[in-house]
Amino acid sequence: MTVTTIIGAQWGDEGKGKITDYLADNSKVVARSQGGNNAGHTIVIDGKKYKLHLLPSGILRKDMVNVVGNGVVVNPDVLLKELANLDGERGQLFISDRAHVIMPYHKLLDGGEESSKGKLMIGTTGNGIGPCYSDKASRIGIRMGDLLDDDIIIERLEKALPRNQALLAHYGIDNDLTVDSLFEICKEWRNQLGDFVTDASLLVNRHIDNGDNVLLEGAQGVHIDIEYGTYPFVTSSSPTTAGAALGSGIAPSKIDNVVGVTKAYLTRVGSGPFPTELEDKVGEMIREKGQEFGTTTGRPRRCGWLDLVMLELSNRICGFSSLAITKLDILSDMDEIKVCVAYKGEDGSEINHFPSSLSHLAKCTPVYKIFPGWSSSGIDISKGIIPEEMKNFLDFVSESLNIPISIVSLGPGRDETIIF
Ligand code: GDP
Ligand code: IMO
Ligand code: MG
Repeated sequence: MTVTTIIGAQWGDEGKGKITDYLADNSKVVARSQGGNNAGHTIVIDGKKYKLHLLPSGILRKDMVNVVGNGVVVNPDVLLKELANLDGERGQLFISDRAHVIMPYHKLLDGGEESSKGKLMIGTTGNGIGPCYSDKASRIGIRMGDLLDDDIIIERLEKALPRNQALLAHYGIDNDLTVDSLFEICKEWRNQLGDFVTDASLLVNRHIDNGDNVLLEGAQGVHIDIEYGTYPFVTSSSPTTAGAALGSGIAPSKIDNVVGVTKAYLTRVGSGPFPTELEDKVGEMIREKGQEFGTTTGRPRRCGWLDLVMLELSNRICGFSSLAITKLDILSDMDEIKVCVAYKGEDGSEINHFPSSLSHLAKCTPVYKIFPGWSSSGIDISKGIIPEEMKNFLDFVSESLNIPISIVSLGPGRDETIIF
């Protein structure tokens, strides 16, 4: 029995969906622990692309138990649409009774908050994630389990709606939401999703006790974590190993393996600092070749070189047992490849730890180690052969961070993967 957590080590979109789908082969349970439909996880099976936002990446396997954990925020309409879009057989689905519900006013508020922020605009996905987690922290949220009881729905709405409407009015956003209209929506959600709602912590722990392999599928990435990300340009949950345990209702000591997923380069969607960003032809080339456009919003992703200062922080917080390095194929056939090994501060000092202050970070410039590129002709995935130059690059990353590399990904498909 093994519990494996898959964590995005950068700013999201590292390829967690692909790695989860790959590792799911040997697992019984795939659980999402945090985030909501701000996530976009792409899985390619036999050349067919599946984009999942809320459903765990094990849903496409018929024998898999898929869990939407207590730390997730659920937009029931999105979940129902995703279920309806699946063709063929699917795995089982369970939703934690403790997971909070994204209500229509949360999505409206997300837009209002963003447009009021001026240069501090985060560039959220606009899905109501932050406002829903705010209500959770303010103790006026509505949970999936609450939908099962009419009286509780009404009681909760009577508390949450006036406060959210006051906020909407503050942002000048009109709405015609009423307790009655929302009650009808909640009842419809209950009719369609009620059977999936359960105590998911008990369920996951029973599988662990039975000796089943369990995968905790992270969403987002450590550097948009609410605690350790580039605050305030972050999401509202904790995409860390600790967040994975809490958000799926298991003890942290039950986690055996933590796979940190990192691209061989770096991308970011939305605003916020990005020390190794490439605002030139190289960045454009990576964006086009890597098809770096958001799965959720379609926005072009900002691209840059791999940053080991960032990864040191990710590993410090998450304790990676190994790394899965994705999209190495996108860097093939380049003359040279850079890796940021440290930052230089304004006074010329070397900085080895990712600063928490954004003004401090803005004054940092990356110090690069330059690697000769490799040729795609030197790759033979079926034989596990990679070019010497790629091996040197990987060895350097692994030795610098003192983390072994367990998976090398050279394409979106299941068979474009080498296990180390
Ligand atoms: P996630 O949010 O971490 O699951 O990542 P996304 O699905 O948003 O973005 C990763 C994209 O890269 C998806 O389109 C994947 O199909 C694709 N992908 C994953 N691994 C590789 C790889 O090794 N090479 C290439 N070319 N594409 C990959
Ligand atoms: P996956 O799971 C990349 C970013 C948004 C924005 C910030 C806050 O696919 O890796 P939010 O809507 O969460 O309040 O937006 O976080 N963001 C992501 N970026 N991948 C994601 O998920 C993301 N989820 C949120 O772009 O900058
Ligand atoms: Mg994504």
